[in-house]
Amino acid sequence: MNRVPVHVSLIMDGNGRWAKERGKERVYGHFEGVESVRACVEAAAETGVKYLSIYAFSEENWNRPQDEVAALMGLMVKAMAAEMEKLDKAGVRFRVIGNRERLDPDLNRTIDSCEEMTAHNDTLTLIVLLSYSGKWDILQAAKKMAMEVADDPERREEILSMDVNGFDRYLATAGIPDPDLIVRTSGECRLSNYLLWQGAYSELLFVDTLWPDFRKEEFRSALDYYAKRDRRYGKVK
Ligand code: FPP
Repeated sequence: MNRVPVHVSLIMDGNGRWAKERGKERVYGHFEGVESVRACVEAAAETGVKYLSIYAFSEENWNRPQDEVAALMGLMVKAMAAEMEKLDKAGVRFRVIGNRERLDPDLNRTIDSCEEMTAHNDTLTLIVLLSYSGKWDILQAAKKMAMEVADDPERREEILSMDVNGFDRYLATAGIPDPDLIVRTSGECRLSNYLLWQGAYSELLFVDTLWPDFRKEEFRSALDYYAKRDRRYGKVK
């Protein structure tokens, strides 16, 4: 049995608290959080993880103060532009998943060019969940199905006989295996509207470490935790 998870997903939480503990603005925590992303990407590639997804911005995060939203978006454009060549050289495929309609055109352009540049890579796929929420994803999948039937009533029977795997291809994550392990930092024990459908059988790990302190060692510890889990998928072993 392969004890290295194929897909690890990270809910990066605690940047604001990390900054506050140091008497700094919240955005300082986000800056430092980018360093943790870099460390985890390296650790994932070194350990043979094939998919690493990170929750960078939820649909609910749009309700944060305007200046923090702007700072986060700016940070992402900068980080993507600065890191992409290195990621490409390391064989990392870069993808963004989420409600792209809400993103700034500048950011969308940067995302498109990064995705295009790295599309041929297959050492590791880094997936940034941006303007994403689990309920949004399930709803957009249902809408796509409804539109298919509206356009072609013959699809109705196919959809009625579809199983859960058939639904996967309507999700924004189509083609990406479900996460084996979801890690959330900063001591919060909830999924916060993350990969609700895809995380049905994920192992969950909640750690107290604040995201800016979650580096290679912490990533490797999470993999150790995963290696000890006994996954039964509702069956008896
Ligand atoms: C949660 O901490 C963190 C975020 C909402 C933003 C995370 C984004 C990054 C680190 C940038 C990622 C960069 C790229 C290139 C994808 P919080 O602000 O909720 O912290 P708090 O709970 O302590 O307030």
